[in-house]
Amino acid sequence: MLKEIHDQPQAVQVCLEHYLPTSYSALHTPYSSSLTAFLCDLNEVHIFACGSSYHAGLIAQYWIEQLAGIPVRIRSGSEFQEAPLPMSANTLMIGITQSGETADTLNAIALDKQRRAAQSPAFQPHLLGITNQPASALSKLVDWTLPTLAGTEIGVAATKTFMNQLIVCFYLALELALVCQAIAHEKIQIHHAELYALPAKIRAVLELEIQIKNIAQEWVNQQHCIVLGRGINRAIALEGALKLKETTYIHAEGYGAGEFMHGPIALLDARIPVIAIAPTDSTHAAMIANLRKVKSHGSPIIGILTEDAAPETISLLDHALILPAIANPLFPILSVIPLQLLAYHIAVQRGLNVDKPRNITKTLSDQ
Ligand code: BG6
Repeated sequence: MLKEIHDQPQAVQVCLEHYLPTSYSALHTPYSSSLTAFLCDLNEVHIFACGSSYHAGLIAQYWIEQLAGIPVRIRSGSEFQEAPLPMSANTLMIGITQSGETADTLNAIALDKQRRAAQSPAFQPHLLGITNQPASALSKLVDWTLPTLAGTEIGVAATKTFMNQLIVCFYLALELALVCQAIAHEKIQIHHAELYALPAKIRAVLELEIQIKNIAQEWVNQQHCIVLGRGINRAIALEGALKLKETTYIHAEGYGAGEFMHGPIALLDARIPVIAIAPTDSTHAAMIANLRKVKSHGSPIIGILTEDAAPETISLLDHALILPAIANPLFPILSVIPLQLLAYHIAVQRGLNVDKPRNITKTLSDQ
C-alpha cells in the first residue's frame, strides 16, 4: 500500500499524458458524428459504483455538473436493484470500478441496460466504463471504456487507482464541457496547466509523511474518528473514513461538515478526534465556524489546509497538515493523500496486515 501511495505522482503523469497531451485544447477523442450529436443532446449522466469508486463518482458528479452543466445522478451499485434511478432520455450511464469485476456495480449496469433495451430510441443505453482493468467483465458490458492506467494495484485498499479515477473523471468533465460548448478555450488552458502541476504537488504532499507518521503514533489507540469536508471535499471525508475503516478497523465516519452539526455532533468529546479538510476556498469560513463548535466539545482536530491558511485557523488545531494551494475543484486530488498515509501508518503501528485487511477482498463475487 505504501509503495502504491508513493506511485501516485508517476501514475498521474502517465494518465495525464494519455488523456490530456500537451496539445490538448479541443476535443481529444475523435468522436463519430452520431456520438457527438448524442453528447450534445445529453439530458443527464447516471453513475454506478461502489466503495472508493463511488466516492470518485461523487467527485465526478460535482465536476460534470459544474464544468459541463449537465445534471448527474449517482447510485451505489448495491442499491440500484432496490431503487433504480428513474429512466431518463438521452442519458449517458457511467460505471466506475477499478477492478471491473464488482458484482454490485456490474449488476446495476446490466439491469439498466436490459430495461432500456425495450424502450424507444431516446432511452436506449449508452454506457461508458471507467476501470483499471480494460479486459474485465465491465468492458464487455459497456460501449466505451476509459482505462485509468494506474498500473497494478495489489493492496486491497484503493489508493493510486482512486487517484487515477479522479484524473479520468476530470478529463471526462472537460470533454463533456467542450462538446456542450460550456467552457471557454482559455479556461481549458488554465485547467491543463493546473493538472500538469499535480505530480509535483502530490510529491510535496507525500513529504508530509514523517509528520503524519508521528500523528499516527499519537492516535494508534483511538477507537473512533470523524472526518469532515464541505462541498467537493465531502466525498474525500467519506473516502478518508473508508480508508481508516478498511485498514485500521477504527470506527471512522465521514460527513459533510454542515450536516454533521445536525445531530452527529452529539458524539463528540475529548476521546473522539476529528480530521477536517479545510482548504482556503469558498467553504473555509463555514468550516472554521464548524470547527470552533467541534473544539468546544474537547475533540482533538487535525486540519488538512492549504499553504495560505491564516494563523487563527492553524491555532484552532492540534495538528496542521499544510498542502500546496491548488484551484478548488482539484483539491480532492491532494487532500486524499494525507488520509491514505494516516490510515497506512496507524494500521502498521497497530501491527495489522495493511495490504490484506480482514473481511474484504479486492473484487466482490456475486452475493
Ligand atoms: C469493495 C472494496 O468491496 O469494493 C473497496 O472493499 C472497493 O475497497 C469496492 O472500493 C469497489 O471496488 P471496485 O473494484 O469496483 O472499484
